[in-house]
Amino acid sequence: MYKLITALLSGITLAFIGHLFIPLKTSKTSEIPKPFICPPLDKAAALNRFRGLISFPSISNISREDHVNDQKVFRDMVAYLVRSYPRVWKHLNVEQVGENSLSLLITWPGSNPDLRPVLFVSHYDVVPVTPGSEHAWTYPPFSGELADGYVWGRGSLDIKFGVAALLEAASTLLAPHDSGAAEEAGEDATGDLFQPKRTIIFAFGHDEEVGGGQGAGAIAALLRSRGMDLELVVDEGGAILLNGLRPITSQPVAMVAMAEKGNAMVEVTLRSPGGHSSMPPTDGSDVASQLWRLGTALKLVPTRTRLQPPVTDMLTHVAPYASGWMRPLLERVDQGPVRWLAGVLLRGFGGRELAAMVSTTLSLTRIRAGVADNVLPQEAVLGFNARLLPGQEPVQAVEHLQRAVKLARVNADVRLTEPGASWPGSKVTSSDGHHFQLLRKAIQETWQFDGQAPAVVPFLVMGATDSRHYAALSHGGVMRFVPYAMGDGDLGLIHATNERVRADSFTRGVCTYLRMMQLLAGSESEH
Ligand SMILES: *[C@@H]1O[C@H](CO)[C@@H](O)[C@H](O)[C@H]1NC(C)=O
Repeated sequence: MYKLITALLSGITLAFIGHLFIPLKTSKTSEIPKPFICPPLDKAAALNRFRGLISFPSISNISREDHVNDQKVFRDMVAYLVRSYPRVWKHLNVEQVGENSLSLLITWPGSNPDLRPVLFVSHYDVVPVTPGSEHAWTYPPFSGELADGYVWGRGSLDIKFGVAALLEAASTLLAPHDSGAAEEAGEDATGDLFQPKRTIIFAFGHDEEVGGGQGAGAIAALLRSRGMDLELVVDEGGAILLNGLRPITSQPVAMVAMAEKGNAMVEVTLRSPGGHSSMPPTDGSDVASQLWRLGTALKLVPTRTRLQPPVTDMLTHVAPYASGWMRPLLERVDQGPVRWLAGVLLRGFGGRELAAMVSTTLSLTRIRAGVADNVLPQEAVLGFNARLLPGQEPVQAVEHLQRAVKLARVNADVRLTEPGASWPGSKVTSSDGHHFQLLRKAIQETWQFDGQAPAVVPFLVMGATDSRHYAALSHGGVMRFVPYAMGDGDLGLIHATNERVRADSFTRGVCTYLRMMQLLAGSESEH
């Protein structure tokens, strides 16, 4: 037995080392594009419009039938947007849709109706401030305070930044290029507008944080009823990480999520005869013994490790920025034995984020059992939250738990709860295609650090976004990225106390969105 294992291990190691010496078609770091000159923007005024948006406590709430705490806050907020971005409401077609008309669908018709539209998705609902934590905020959560180089407040990162920056970008593109000259020539100011060739659509949902069913779900249904075929969907999910992806690189990287995980709630109900707690059974039939066995079975038979796109793409894209022994490993991560080994290493030693990128995770999030201190429970209900890799279906999480139940020899039912709140892992958008090139160009032209453009890196995002409602309508898939920069501490502030975004990201982000609109919708070349 020992000899067999040694032989196997040596074989794998040799194959692995052999692979490192196979020459690769070099995936060179692309050249740094010429910086894009952003149209003039009154930075302070633009930032103030964004800060004003943060001041609305537009909290969505799953316990309420209409999914929001206060409809009036949303209506006032939309009225605020009308006042703040008048050019958008004047020149584009704005519809208030969704349950109670609380979401926005804005259409900017392209000059060529044969081209499929590109859809920019965001949302203006926010998660609540944890009751009792208000005093821990440096500035009140709905103040939109500008201080210490940040704009502070709930929703600044997630994701009123996106709504404000997209509207600001559209508004800038709608401005006459040179109003003075236009007036002198006696021209109508609207004669000088940018008109996209491809239709641009903005969809801003009002209940993304509670699933998006009444906002994005309703908008997607409306688009579908109109027979809409989309070219590409751009949604939230990634950002620019100023300190890179350590330990691979500490240079800035722009992370673009090309897929997102699916979600399933699976309930395991353990059954037991119960009885008096003074005489617990000795045959392992009590709830506690069954629970230990099930836990052990889940450790013995974990979900499968799968290093697959877009995580393999992530590793090959950062490879040129890595140094030492890591670089040859990352460059070859798509090759058989290297992929297998890398997957195992990432899951075992890469930390929780990387482990979650290479496996479907099963987290025990709820336990309900027991009626009295001296009564053995007859039942224990365990709620597992599964987060599914791309390509996996909710039923696969159920099957995995059924195998564990069998292995552990426990008396249990396994079922999917709330099928409506379960969905598969998303499709993976290609990072080889034309759209990714254009997105990379827009990012690298508008974000440069000491003359260096950030690496633009595909990845798999753990959270769910509104884009899943639109994904089926899109030919070119979904790319999830918001043009703002985050330092080490910033990522943990999403949904947390002291949520804040770098103020200097805002004008740059406006410029990136503007450039994306020009590149994705301004050219006839793609169908
Ligand atoms: C959500 O709505 C429920 C039902 O109206 C309410 O009791 C709860 O306080 C709300 N949650 C928040 C965070 O406001």
